[in-house]
Amino acid sequence: MTDWKQKLHIEPLNGWLNDPNGLCYYSGKFHVYFQYSPDSAEGSGRKCWGHMESTDMLTWEYTGIVMEPDIPEDRSGVYSGCAVVDDGKLHIFYTGNVKLPGDYDYINEGREANQIHVVTDDARTLTGKKIILKNADYPDCCSCHVRDPKVWKEDGIWKMVLGARTKDSKGLVLYYEGTDPDSFSFVKTYQVPDFGYMWECPDLFDVDGQRFLGLSPQGLPHEELKNQNVYSSGYFRLNEDRLEEFNEFDHGFDFYAPQTFVAPDGRRILIGWMGIGDIPYSNPTTELGWQHCLTLPRQLSLNDDGALCQNPIDELVNLRASRKLVKAGDSIELEALSEIIIRSSEFKEADFGGFRLIVEDGICSLVFDEDKGWGFGRDIRRAKTGDIKDIRILLDTSSVEIYINGGRVVMSSRFYPDSDIVFKADSDATVYGLSQKPRKLIAIGEALIDFIPDKTGCDFHEVTAFSPKLGGAPANVCGAFAKLSGKSKILTMLGQDPFGDRILKELDEAGIDTSCVLRTDEANTALAFVSLAKDGNRTFSFYRNPSADMLLNEYQIYERMLDDIYALHFCSVSLGDFPMRKAHRKAIDMARARGAIISFDPNLRPALWKSTEAMKEAVSEFVPVADILKISDEELEFITGQTDIDEACKELLAVGVKLIVYTRGKNGAKLITRKTSGEDPGVEVQAVDTTGAGDGFIGALLWYLASSGINKTDLAELTSDMLSEAALFADRYCSVSITRTGAIPSYPTLQEFKNLYYKGGTVT
Ligand code: FRU
Repeated sequence: MTDWKQKLHIEPLNGWLNDPNGLCYYSGKFHVYFQYSPDSAEGSGRKCWGHMESTDMLTWEYTGIVMEPDIPEDRSGVYSGCAVVDDGKLHIFYTGNVKLPGDYDYINEGREANQIHVVTDDARTLTGKKIILKNADYPDCCSCHVRDPKVWKEDGIWKMVLGARTKDSKGLVLYYEGTDPDSFSFVKTYQVPDFGYMWECPDLFDVDGQRFLGLSPQGLPHEELKNQNVYSSGYFRLNEDRLEEFNEFDHGFDFYAPQTFVAPDGRRILIGWMGIGDIPYSNPTTELGWQHCLTLPRQLSLNDDGALCQNPIDELVNLRASRKLVKAGDSIELEALSEIIIRSSEFKEADFGGFRLIVEDGICSLVFDEDKGWGFGRDIRRAKTGDIKDIRILLDTSSVEIYINGGRVVMSSRFYPDSDIVFKADSDATVYGLSQKPRKLIAIGEALIDFIPDKTGCDFHEVTAFSPKLGGAPANVCGAFAKLSGKSKILTMLGQDPFGDRILKELDEAGIDTSCVLRTDEANTALAFVSLAKDGNRTFSFYRNPSADMLLNEYQIYERMLDDIYALHFCSVSLGDFPMRKAHRKAIDMARARGAIISFDPNLRPALWKSTEAMKEAVSEFVPVADILKISDEELEFITGQTDIDEACKELLAVGVKLIVYTRGKNGAKLITRKTSGEDPGVEVQAVDTTGAGDGFIGALLWYLASSGINKTDLAELTSDMLSEAALFADRYCSVSITRTGAIPSYPTLQEFKNLYYKGGTVT
């Protein structure tokens, strides 16, 4: 059986999809509209806009057709366009295509190109179409082919580029400006001699301060290493107003009409159509009722040479669900959703069964095996890459995207396998199996308000004011995981009081899943007053007699709460003699049954216990269920009674712990398994506030493991290098957090962190 439905890529259930349109982030969601012909997989019939939305750019929800040809000015098709967020509203601009009945050439006559503006406040109700430009408004040199508005607002001015064809069939871009989104005036053109007859889908955008003009030119001559497809798609570097060299976005078989937008964190993201019109090859899904998909979202950056690079959005690593190291020459059967990374300058060939990737003399070729027939007419595409440094390959059920040398060169193609894909290369490779949605870090325990003193370095009674901050170790760990773009969820209970409301809101704002946060009127939300004495010691005064979180009981924990779980994290504060302890037991048992990693950070708070014996007894009871145990000097001694670290670790590993995370404050951390260990000596920084530092450390470590596809059974097998890298990652993360105030607010986002330490590469 062949299953060619894509698992990750945006594709229609039925019908034909082409260009991505209206890419934007609006009202808390990412939006992708697309050219959609719902009535025919061959693209005939109504040309509409379909709509997808997402909170993470990984999983998309189709909301239906949001625009169709329903006014005279767009009666032959709601063609491509864009979206601009302004003043809380979403402005959509697109081309209304009109083909007049009659005997016309449809180039210089018989066609209307109307630029149309629609305003919406829900991204789905796209009514009130307003015509803002018509044929008569374009410069005299233009034929009737003028379309695909890409609009942006810069310095208070509305700006627009339009793709066009002159009367004597030369491609060009028209540039307009306006003081409001309904009145644009023509300013100038962008043109270069002898560069195709029509320029479609222009996009003027900046990456790291460099301006580019992206476009999809038709009619370029095919060369051996360039513009091999029927229509091309690439970008000019702009120097003032001059168009410098043209580079293709993608050198594969299936790429056209991309569009970019800016994510809320400032990244420029590109999505292309993984298809082209009028191709000499085919897609067998057409007979099954649908055709084409979009590429994965790619983030754009400049490399050290200032060259434009495209890489899959960083969020994608959250899908890694398994990891295998495949030695050169070994074969492995791939899962339908896979990612392969090869880092070898010696790389020459990788075989996927129906196609191969070959590097020879600085040229990379994607070659389909004619006999196998997976390419349905696709044969060979080549690209100049120079020496190979790294290759990252993403496979979905029927597509492959190949990112070479940090994304400097990309090759994308559809393919339609009729058997399992067996991969083999002449270099070592890391192969990840990907899940369709991110797996979650779930933490159980307290979320509370930490009252932070206005003065430090004094005793409790000298403090005159406290400010409320979200705290609780399990909440912080979820916060770090979410800041790093992972999905996290907290299982806790809050009081029906204003502090409970406040925590819920802040958890939500931190991107933590609060769907399993319960509320009770039987106790108040937990509070903790903190002071920092002259000797640097923190004192906590807890208001938990009892607090709402302690009352969460085992009957309130149920299976569905743990859906998509990667790891369950807990601490000791909630293991006292109250219902929450049994709730922990139940959640741990259920998580273990699902094969999830159990992570325990005792995080000892003696002040909360009747006696140290009671605390020790509780911690000792839970240590054996932990796969990962985070522990500091004092804790190690307290729990094992050993002062010798190696002896203490041996004891803990003997009861079943697979990975000990031994944190040493400013001296970094050591990760220890039965077989080996790896460490990081720590990063020198000026500490401002260490609140939540340890939670940031373990949150970052868990995210590192999750996004490296490391599962429970892999923990004991991690190499020393891998352990050291993980320790370094978590140490660096923690070191950034202590240079800022607060817990969750002090944790850097993945992009901030990447810019500090992992610029240009992948984080995991
Ligand atoms: C590019 C394109 C655009 C046009 C749209 C119509 O693929 O031809 O120029 O607006 O598709 O679907």
